[in-house]
Amino acid sequence: MSNLSVDNLLGIKYLKLQDIELIFQMASNFKKIINKRIKKVPSLRDITIANLFFENSTRTKLSFELAEKRLSADVINFSSSVSSVNKGETLLDTVKNVLAMKVDIIVLRHPNPGASVFLSRNINAKIVNAGDGTHEHPTQALLDAFSIKEKYGEIKGKRVLIVGDVLHSRVALSNIFCLKMLGAEVNVCGPSSLMPKYLDTLGVSHFSNLKEALEWSDIANVLRIQLERQEVNYFPSLREYSMIYGIDKTLLDSLNKEITIMHPGPINRGVELSADVADSKHSIILNQVENGVAIRMAILYLLAGKIKNNK
Ligand code: CP
Repeated sequence: MSNLSVDNLLGIKYLKLQDIELIFQMASNFKKIINKRIKKVPSLRDITIANLFFENSTRTKLSFELAEKRLSADVINFSSSVSSVNKGETLLDTVKNVLAMKVDIIVLRHPNPGASVFLSRNINAKIVNAGDGTHEHPTQALLDAFSIKEKYGEIKGKRVLIVGDVLHSRVALSNIFCLKMLGAEVNVCGPSSLMPKYLDTLGVSHFSNLKEALEWSDIANVLRIQLERQEVNYFPSLREYSMIYGIDKTLLDSLNKEITIMHPGPINRGVELSADVADSKHSIILNQVENGVAIRMAILYLLAGKIKNNK
């Protein structure tokens, strides 16, 4: 396969296995380039990309922007906090105005689940979902899976544990879709109150006991407690959450095996992960961030190829 089966990247659930394999192959090539002294290629110099962020972001926003610049695209950035959204402008009107400036690709982060799908049905531009509420975060799942493949050589058969606030996590949902498609076993661990009711339909099981769950796993992808999305208290206090579901060095040392620690960021140090675990040799958290640029370059390159084929 030489290009994606989809016209937009809206979620992992819309991708085929061959799409993911193609993205990984491209990302490997781009990773070699961005580790050279001259990190830039001219591939997208005729493409304009708008990064529209209606929610806070550090890693995703910066790595999309860097990926675009490494590919020589023209880039404009938008943050809702300093935009005319605050004067009542709708998402659709905002995007139509951006597209009137001859933009080819929209990268969208939005608090509403389904915002990217909505846009894709109402505008004529390529859309990349950079995280939509509690729904999906496809580029995060792809960079997570790519990082696992890079460390272990293959994903098939690996046991991946997702720990924490699965209920509010777009990272968890996209990771489950992506890793299962690639042949990993995926289970989750955390308070029952932070598990979605439809967990069975995703083909994953729930561990209540963190130590047992870690003994089962090869890799633990640890999530942040998303207080900003919690309208009620799902557990008594962060202190108690940390005592039962936080991972520290003492817990890891008590296991009969070594496991790899991942985290999508931002980390709440001392809550879901202790600082010594986040910074330990078992952690590949900064490798994930590094791979985010190559993965996003691959996706933008492949979507831009579709625009060029239609011109
Ligand atoms: N992983 C992730 O989406 O981080 P940001 O919110 O900082 O982009």
